[in-house]
Order: sequence, then structure tokens, then C-alpha cells
Amino acid sequence: MISAKIAKALNQQVLLEAESSQIYLAMASWAEVEGLDGISNFLYKHSDEERMHMLKLVKFINERGGHGVIPALKAPPLKYKGIRDLFQDVLNHEIHVSDEINKLVDICLKEKDYTTHNFLQWYVSEQIEEEALARKVMDKLKLIGDDKAGMYIFDRDIASLAAAESAGEEA
Ligand SMILES: [Fe+2]
Ligand SMILES: [Fe+2]
Repeated sequence: MISAKIAKALNQQVLLEAESSQIYLAMASWAEVEGLDGISNFLYKHSDEERMHMLKLVKFINERGGHGVIPALKAPPLKYKGIRDLFQDVLNHEIHVSDEINKLVDICLKEKDYTTHNFLQWYVSEQIEEEALARKVMDKLKLIGDDKAGMYIFDRDIASLAAAESAGEEA
């Protein structure tokens, strides 16, 4: 059974993962309207993954005798200045999520909750991969700069970039 303190901390993470999913969903919709189909698909998929992260937490909390709380979400931004701004936001957000996961791990150690500590290791690894992917995307975007043809190719190839990253993590 988890303590009330751990349940509260985990539910904070439920909120953060739900917010992540919501933010990436708004980004995906914006990119789709802008005609950036590759980027849009990438972000829709990313949004689904964040929802999965949220669900995994809810189920764990419930299994351990707590109550996974489904939170209200505020509306994410409607528009973005451009692709580079958007992906910089993604990177910043992932760094923030990693910080929060680290804080959660720290709370578990202080509370001597080794079961939750063990459960959270999956999130620790996931954040390493997500940050690496977001950095890779930003590196590519910096190379492209304002080149329109480069952006066209980026939109076409972003799916394979994500696939290469997940193939790397399985190897
Ligand atoms: Fe996540
Ligand atoms: Fe994430």
C-alpha cells in the first residue's frame, strides 16, 4: 500500500503527463492546420504516448491502494511562432518532466517506498530517451535554419527520426 504522501506526489505526475498529452495534441493540431503532416503525425503519436504514461500511473496508484485522480486541464496555446519555437517548447517541457520524475524518485527514497521507486525507473529511462529525441530534433532544426526546402525534407523525415530513436533504444 502506498502512503498518502506518495499517492499525492504520484497524482501530481498524473497531472503533468496529462498536461503533456494535451500540449502535444494542441501542437499536432496546429501543425496539421499548417499543412505539416509529418510533424503533425509525430506530435499526435507523442500525445498518445503521454496519455499512456498517465494511464500507467493511474493504474499503479489504484493497484497500490490509492486513488488515481483524473485532473482538469487548462487549454494549451492555440498557435506557435514556428517549428523551431514549437520544438524548443517540447525540449523545455521534457526537461521539466525529467526534473519532476527525479523529485518523485527522491521522495520515494526518503519515504523508503522501494516498490514505487522501482516502478519509477521506467519513467527515468523514458525521460532519457525523450530528451535525447527532442535534442536531436532541435539539432536538425538549427541546421536547417530558414531553408524552406530543408523544412520540407524535415517534415517528410521526422517519422524516420523518431523510428531510428526507438530502434536505438531497443538495441
Ligand atoms: Fe511522459
Ligand atoms: Fe514526454
